[in-house]
Amino acid sequence: MMQLPTAAVLGYPIKQSLSPPMHNYWLQTMGIPGMYLPMEIKPDDLKDVLLAMPKLGFVGCNLTIPHKEAAMALVQDISETAKAIGAVNTLQFNSDETIYATNTDAEGFLQNLKYHHHDLSRFKQQALVIGAGGASRAIIYALQQEGFQKILIANRTRSRADALAEHFGVPCETLDWAETEAAMAETTLLVNTSSLGMGDDAPWPFALDALPKDALVTDIVYKPLMTGLLKAADARGNPIVTGVGMLAHQGVPGFELWFGARPHVDEDVLSLLEASL
Ligand SMILES: NC(=O)c1ccc[n+]([C@@H]2O[C@H](COP(=O)([O-])OP(=O)(O)OC[C@H]3O[C@@H](n4cnc5c(N)ncnc54)[C@H](OP(=O)(O)O)[C@@H]3O)[C@@H](O)[C@H]2O)c1
Repeated sequence: MMQLPTAAVLGYPIKQSLSPPMHNYWLQTMGIPGMYLPMEIKPDDLKDVLLAMPKLGFVGCNLTIPHKEAAMALVQDISETAKAIGAVNTLQFNSDETIYATNTDAEGFLQNLKYHHHDLSRFKQQALVIGAGGASRAIIYALQQEGFQKILIANRTRSRADALAEHFGVPCETLDWAETEAAMAETTLLVNTSSLGMGDDAPWPFALDALPKDALVTDIVYKPLMTGLLKAADARGNPIVTGVGMLAHQGVPGFELWFGARPHVDEDVLSLLEASL
């Protein structure tokens, strides 16, 4: 049995995760006895590990790639948010050995924007979302819940964008990858949810010439912190929000579930994350 309240992040691979330093920083600075561990778990082992963790005394865990969808079949109680998104990233182990699961990526995304722009109302006319993978589902859900008037989804593989628009319904629409630059003209929030810009392998492909200069631009890719998209947007004077804050804000609800106190996202924890990239 764990001696201290202990949570973990399960992924495969896991060594890239910034969640352990972030949660352990909060535990330490808030004076809470507890631990947060990285655990490398292969997909085939997820079921056995989730069955064992409550018995070992874990209070809960985060899930990252590739477990976010598969875990839905292994838990007993799923939040409405996670059901709508179709993936879970935060689990709480109950004393009766049942598991509650939710998804905090949508809240993390919105809180990151609001940390920098308290009032998002001027950006709500049209969101242009690039990408239609797992992360995109949480972002589209967040934008829909927040009352964005139009959500345009552009994805390299059009059929995946169409499937997301069908799943979420109004006000989502899709467009061809080749139409993306033209769609920037009416855009008030541009979001990259694709892996474009991650590492150096796939540079940002679209010119921003048509994008209004007061449109907010954000990228959920945070390695590098200043992606090609953010550099281009910043150079022409658009307001930008980097992606590492989403990671910090999505961690807040889980920490509160497990350790009973709500941590604050501040410049210190953001600097810690940025230094760990
Ligand atoms: N900031 C945060 O807290 C946070 C949270 C979650 C994820 N992320 C980041 O978000 C990114 C996406 O994650 P995910 O889980 O959604 O991944 P995913 O499910 O694998 O989806 C990848 C997406 O990127 C697109 N894509 C990949 N390579 C491309 C290329 N060369 N050109 C154009 N499009 C390309 C894919 O398009 P196709 O459908 O055409 O393949 C798909 O839309 C990752 O970099 C991840 O690290 C950040």
